Amino acid sequence: MCGIVGIVGKLNACKSALNVLKNLEYRGYDSAGLAFLQKNHLNTIKALGKLNELKSKFEILEEGIKDVSIAIGHTRWATHGKVILENTHPILSKNVAVVHNGIIENHDQIRLELKEKDVIFETTTDTEVIPHLLSISMKNTQNFFDACVSVVNKIEGAYAFAAIHSLNEEIFVARQTSPLVIGIGNEYNIVGSDAQSISQMVDEVIYLNDGDYAILNKTQIQIYDSDNKKVEREKINIQSNLNFLNKDGFKHFMEKEIHEQPNVLINTIGSLIRDENDLNIFPEKMNIQKNCGITICAAGTSYYAAMVGKYWIEKFSSIPVNVELSSEYRYRSPASEMYSCMIVISQSGESIDTLMAMREAKKLNLKTMAITNVEHSSIDREADYSIYTHVGPEVGVASTKSFTSQLIVLLSIAMKIGMYNKKITTEKCQDFIQNLKLVPNFLSKILSLNKEFINLAQAIKNSRNILYLGRGVLYPLALEGALKLKELSYIHSEGFAAGEMKHGPIALIEEGLPIIMFLTSDGMEEKSISNLQEAIARGGKVFLISDQKNINKISFIDNKVLIPSFQETWNDVFSPIFMSIPAQLIAYHVARERGTDIDQPRNLAKSVTVE
Ligand code: G6P
Repeated sequence: MCGIVGIVGKLNACKSALNVLKNLEYRGYDSAGLAFLQKNHLNTIKALGKLNELKSKFEILEEGIKDVSIAIGHTRWATHGKVILENTHPILSKNVAVVHNGIIENHDQIRLELKEKDVIFETTTDTEVIPHLLSISMKNTQNFFDACVSVVNKIEGAYAFAAIHSLNEEIFVARQTSPLVIGIGNEYNIVGSDAQSISQMVDEVIYLNDGDYAILNKTQIQIYDSDNKKVEREKINIQSNLNFLNKDGFKHFMEKEIHEQPNVLINTIGSLIRDENDLNIFPEKMNIQKNCGITICAAGTSYYAAMVGKYWIEKFSSIPVNVELSSEYRYRSPASEMYSCMIVISQSGESIDTLMAMREAKKLNLKTMAITNVEHSSIDREADYSIYTHVGPEVGVASTKSFTSQLIVLLSIAMKIGMYNKKITTEKCQDFIQNLKLVPNFLSKILSLNKEFINLAQAIKNSRNILYLGRGVLYPLALEGALKLKELSYIHSEGFAAGEMKHGPIALIEEGLPIIMFLTSDGMEEKSISNLQEAIARGGKVFLISDQKNINKISFIDNKVLIPSFQETWNDVFSPIFMSIPAQLIAYHVARERGTDIDQPRNLAKSVTVE
């Protein structure tokens, strides 16, 4: 992943670069660095750990480098090479410095070739081949731009990089699959891994297309496409939304993002409703066809949303749905004849696995539709049709409001395809819309049970293993609950379909093992309760999250949190949206009890742009 920035033409460029890096920290936070030019001399500042470490080092030097007007910077999520200072970007070779996001897939081969030319490597990164290739090429061409182009022609993989050299104040950038955006300032230009990160400094941006490269100085931007033709790319006005950097009095961004769900989901719902009995979703654009199915691809939490989507779409529209991990789809030669559409789900719109799965689907002639939170992201721009979740930037690495908004979009898609397919009447859709509007307020009621989830968290915080169970639409919630918990608290947790437990996972149950079950009144509750009895009989300590309606059936369970019941017809349908709140609050509070880094858990990054 990693975040990259470059600034040319602005005084105190290092400080501006640091501000941009702060906005990019979600992309990786194991180390960070800057490279800048002062009197034609290349300098670097690097630090291990979070960006604040780099900031402290910068502040000591700031007075002496205020006149610097060109800098590149990087915040790292290690792919090749350990988290040590030597591997921290920018990576230098002679008078060239490079920051890179992605993976150079042929770096081993290039390394061998360079070693034969007596190049000495000082890092174990894949990136280091770029500055070495560049400085060798500069010796031959005496021209920075030409040298950079020769490097672009040599390297393979998915990458975005920025390079500077000590002779002129110019930045070269190139993008292949990994994101890169150029911002147009007044007498300065800037480049960043996403538009939001540079939006404080510019009003207009240019998204580079795949395979584009460009050279910028303080007044000019020249862009070339993958055929080496000079091109103009569209300038897009952007608005800065820095409100997202405010915790609004909460201790963590994740806590804020959990509690703001009732408010932001109003935006999601508002954008989906066309009028009292129709939804703003267009099955024709998705190429929905009678005897064809839909494949949904996604990663991480978005994948679990996809799994819930399958239950809903098949239930309401009878269209077959195949759900796949993006990272698997691309490489497994999928049979595609029986599918007419691929839906991809990605909060960031940048997960490379999902982007590549979508490209694969295009090659297989499927129509592609994206559910994303980020307009103009790579996935949005390449999809045939997009629906936005409209929940605003999500800063906490663990996905919360994105997940619930994805669920709302998927359920609405299921209803709309159902109407299109004549499986759902207009009256039913009307009733759905009425009830959908009640969801935000209902989530507030569940959030008001916060204290009960703190108690639950205190009871399980010292466990070494935890199981999550659910049936039907709540099975993916069990998986999501377990993922959230392991991401945030580092407790080993696994989710299972309740009915599957007896086929293996039951062997894990020993005296006192916490088992968290999500239960709704869906007609299958008796079966789920039997599964709980089986767990209790073997010493499992059950914590049940259920709606009020089941109260009489679960009186034998001591540890339970009862959430309110929703309107009869829709209670079990909406239950994954409702149960998301307990799943999030349990993980959040366990992590808080254990004192882990909630917003930036170890080893993770929010947007994963490497395969
Ligand atoms: C990473 C994040 C997860 C996220 C997944 C998919 O693994 O840590 O929280 O669910 O990527 O991200 P996307 O932006 O594609 O939804």
